[in-house]
Amino acid sequence: MRTVIVTGGNRGVGLATARHLAGRGYNLILVCRDEQRGRAALESLHSPVSQGNHRLVVADLASLESVREGARRITGTGAPISALVNNAASLPPKRVESRDGFELQLAVTHLGHFLLTNLLLPQLRDAPAPSRVVTVASAAHSGPPFNFRDPNFERRRYRRRQAYQQSKLANVLFTAGLARRVAGTGVQAAALHPGVYDTGLLRNYLGRIPGGGVAARVGTSRTEKAGPVVAELAVGRRDEDLNGLYFHKGARAAPSATGRDTRAQERLWSWSAEATGLEAVPAGGEAGAGPGSGDQRELGSVLTDSPEMPLR
Ligand SMILES: NC(=O)c1ccc[n+]([C@@H]2O[C@H](COP(=O)([O-])OP(=O)(O)OC[C@H]3O[C@@H](n4cnc5c(N)ncnc54)[C@H](OP(=O)(O)O)[C@@H]3O)[C@@H](O)[C@H]2O)c1
Repeated sequence: MRTVIVTGGNRGVGLATARHLAGRGYNLILVCRDEQRGRAALESLHSPVSQGNHRLVVADLASLESVREGARRITGTGAPISALVNNAASLPPKRVESRDGFELQLAVTHLGHFLLTNLLLPQLRDAPAPSRVVTVASAAHSGPPFNFRDPNFERRRYRRRQAYQQSKLANVLFTAGLARRVAGTGVQAAALHPGVYDTGLLRNYLGRIPGGGVAARVGTSRTEKAGPVVAELAVGRRDEDLNGLYFHKGARAAPSATGRDTRAQERLWSWSAEATGLEAVPAGGEAGAGPGSGDQRELGSVLTDSPEMPLR
């Protein structure tokens, strides 16, 4: 039975994705930071028609030690992984530091996923090709370049939307760097904007809205609709090579110019490897734990249209 991992699978887009995949007969591993919330989500995956062998791994993506421990528990099962959905994100109103001293959004949304993905690559390669790493980014990644001089907002005023934009840009840059490293190994890396849904994160992004609900203001879709959108890239389109591609919901799209910047992609990879204590591997070398083919295709380089819509 095929296994899919979803981070932040206890609510919002992550839970919708997990439920959809459970309904299609996949075994789910939910990576959640809170045991109680994770267990409740796990329970909700079972239905009379879907009784998969689902598991919860409690891990806090804001802690590198916790991510390593969570990855150990997953690798301990030895099960090949068909897809890893890097979905979790955090959007605090004020600047908060992770346990390791990184700005929290960057820590959860990017560094935790960077480390988890690299540690799970051997199991992704063990699954029948193609296996996928799908990172849930956002159209909100569009904007200024990644600020390598001050990634943690130590020398500039913290603005939550700016930090969100940077963390989502990191998702896109990371996917491109990963795609180069896994090309030819049977693993494919893709990123997407999933659509706009009325979730806790969207409410934090928009802040207080006087005189109206989030849904009325921005025209959100029902969150369950995110499930098939994300799942399609994780386990669908098996005849297509999605490696290095960005999607706006289900449609291929061009990431922003800052997302297509190859130098920034590689610089972020080296910075992240150092930050997480992984060995930095140049594209075309060995990714985390395995060989890459040296394919230098850029994320978005083969794309045409450019709906750089901001997250509304
Ligand atoms: N909603 C939208 O309109 C929209 C649009 C574009 C992109 N996205 C992207 O979709 C993804 C999911 O967002 P959402 O809207 O579904 O948000 P959400 O409902 O707020 O869910 C966020 C998930 O991330 C988890 N999480 C937060 N911090 C964590 C940590 N330190 N360790 C582990 N898990 C952690 C949360 O767990 P807890 O329950 O424990 O807090 C929750 O399960 C995000 O990457 C977001 O950027 C969403």
